Amino acid sequence: MEIHIEPNIKIDACSSESCTTMDVTIVIFGASGDLTKRKLIPALYHLYCENLISDNITILGVARRDLSETFTKDMIASLRASITHEIAEEEEESLNAFSGMIQYQAMNFDDADAYRELKRILQEMRSVNYLFYLAVAPSYFSSIISNLGAVGLAEDSNGFSRIIIEKPFGHDLQSAVLLNQEVNRIFDEKQVFRIDHYLGKETVQNILVFRFANSIFESVWNRNHIDNIQILVAETIGIESRGEFYDKAGVLRDVMQNHMMELLSYVTMEPPGSFEANAVRIEKLKILRAIKPINMDYVVRGQYALGQMEGNQVLGYREEDRVNPESNTETYAAMELEIENWRWAGVPIYIRAGKRLMKHATEIAIQFKEPPLLMFKGSSDDIKQILPNLLIIRIQPDEGISLRFGAKIPGPHNNVTPVIMDFQYENAFQVEMPNGYERLLLDAINGDQTLFAHRDSVETTWRLFTPVLEAWASQKPIDFPNYRSGSWGPKVADSLIGRDGRKWNNP
Ligand code: BG6
Repeated sequence: MEIHIEPNIKIDACSSESCTTMDVTIVIFGASGDLTKRKLIPALYHLYCENLISDNITILGVARRDLSETFTKDMIASLRASITHEIAEEEEESLNAFSGMIQYQAMNFDDADAYRELKRILQEMRSVNYLFYLAVAPSYFSSIISNLGAVGLAEDSNGFSRIIIEKPFGHDLQSAVLLNQEVNRIFDEKQVFRIDHYLGKETVQNILVFRFANSIFESVWNRNHIDNIQILVAETIGIESRGEFYDKAGVLRDVMQNHMMELLSYVTMEPPGSFEANAVRIEKLKILRAIKPINMDYVVRGQYALGQMEGNQVLGYREEDRVNPESNTETYAAMELEIENWRWAGVPIYIRAGKRLMKHATEIAIQFKEPPLLMFKGSSDDIKQILPNLLIIRIQPDEGISLRFGAKIPGPHNNVTPVIMDFQYENAFQVEMPNGYERLLLDAINGDQTLFAHRDSVETTWRLFTPVLEAWASQKPIDFPNYRSGSWGPKVADSLIGRDGRKWNNP
């Protein structure tokens, strides 16, 4: 299979503390939605305050409703509400200056004339660099992209024109290929930034630093030393007000095909030759392509029933607003994957995700093999066998990394007990973790695609999961709902890992 990675893109490294970027107009389609208010505007504001983006940047919100009178005010009001400390005079000035950078234009996404008007507005601003952010339902992607192309806004001859696309990138292999074809008909791949907010997380970026900036881990990072890897995305929340979207998606499409496969590729990829975008993307693609077709005997799906979360009774999935009362959409999935390459052959990789689980935790557990000879005893009847080393990369919350190892209990006997060596971001750096969108928006402005999904990776993960979706669609689950809200998921998932003689590592 061919790898279509683009030639290297030269980017200006942003190394100094006060790295200001060039002027750019950020056009947010779907600006009236939640994402703009909750994530994009705060991220751009922080970048502005940290002097990481130029104050000549314009943020042009675009949506169907006429919000020209209220949009900027609303954005600033919710920004203020999110600031937990008292706002000092200097910060008031920043907020005022930042509000001057926000504009709004009402337009219908299907109306060709509206794009001519948009072009006129952008030309009037005299900006030659455009970043189009598609924060809209996927059904609008096609129309927005082709209309931008039709009026010449996708050309980047004078400055640049880039497009940021929010997930989902398709809902199966066929739709992802079609979407990519449509995008690439108008925008060259080097102009396309498919955003996966997981890649903006500090803890996710730190996986590569942990593996490749330290020499002691890489030599044991393989089938000779690792018994299994478990990747978990456990959420306590249900589907909130997203019933309409979620009931068509399910957990596999919502988090597994994208966020979890990004985590998997970072944990298992070979060291890239450099951290330049193409070098990293090629290694990620190679690992994704090495995953064996999924064996349905090692796949479990689940759906939550009512239950108790933090002492409160919560609804079952089928009772949620805008969900089909007979829905067969999965809110939980677990499966075993295998990577067929020299480093990982024979090491099971278990991925597991669900809503309304007992605890909120995204983490990667790397369990090492037992020592070849067990010379010591465990500390009690419960721990007859010494527990194997376990390295846990906690993506969130309580971001950090811990290593479990055996230690001798002081006293006359050689009894061993597991102890934990723990690194916590909060204690080590005493900073608030930035919202992932800050880094991703800055990289898109600077043209660095390292932390964005490439077309080929997206299609490769859909190729892997589409047969699972098809098998599920052809066979109705007979036991849904099959787990209680507030539990660790369906019982059958324990058998999935149990038949290999292993257990889930629950946080
Ligand atoms: C989103 C999914 O992409 O990721 C949500 O659509 C999910 O359903 C969310 O809750 C999880 O993101 P995070 O950053 O809270 O782990």
